[in-house]
Amino acid sequence: MTPPNAATTTAPRSTARLRALVAEIRETVGRGLPPDPTARLVAEQLVPHLGMPDLLTAEQCEGDPERYRQHVLHAEHDGSFSVVALVWLPGQVTPIHDHVSWCVTGVHEGEEHERRYQLIPHGETARLVATQDVVNPRGAVSAFAPPGDIHLVRNAGTCTATSLHVYGADVSRLGTSIRRVYRLPADR
Ligand SMILES: [Fe+2]
Repeated sequence: MTPPNAATTTAPRSTARLRALVAEIRETVGRGLPPDPTARLVAEQLVPHLGMPDLLTAEQCEGDPERYRQHVLHAEHDGSFSVVALVWLPGQVTPIHDHVSWCVTGVHEGEEHERRYQLIPHGETARLVATQDVVNPRGAVSAFAPPGDIHLVRNAGTCTATSLHVYGADVSRLGTSIRRVYRLPADR
């Protein structure tokens, strides 16, 4: 399944820094902790690598003029985690969505604007209420696990925004980290 609005590429090679980061994540995931502490520990491991010029290759930082782009950087052989780079050109945005697994994000370049939502029962249906707007600058990390992980991400700046995402699932096999896209009424 193609991720909604995202062009996907599988990166054929990785840098030494990325391989070192993957080894650190493997050790953490291998501890078998619950999703929340796993995500928090992986977020800490991401921090020293963000913004480092030797983390990604030039190809892994390329955007797509049509839609935000996903580069699959690593998929663990047992499906326990995967790592992607997401690239947003100015103005590009995700749909409102949640995720298939725990998720860690870290901004590598530029700035990402995130709007978080809560799903509220509304008569026979439901609606989305925006609960928080967050601006994530370079170096910012977030860790979360479903449920309660509904959001959208937008590049509201004038430069390319690139972030690293780690998921507790094999995104290369699923094609996307998105569990569900929400097309419900939103309050803003
Ligand atoms: Fe997301």
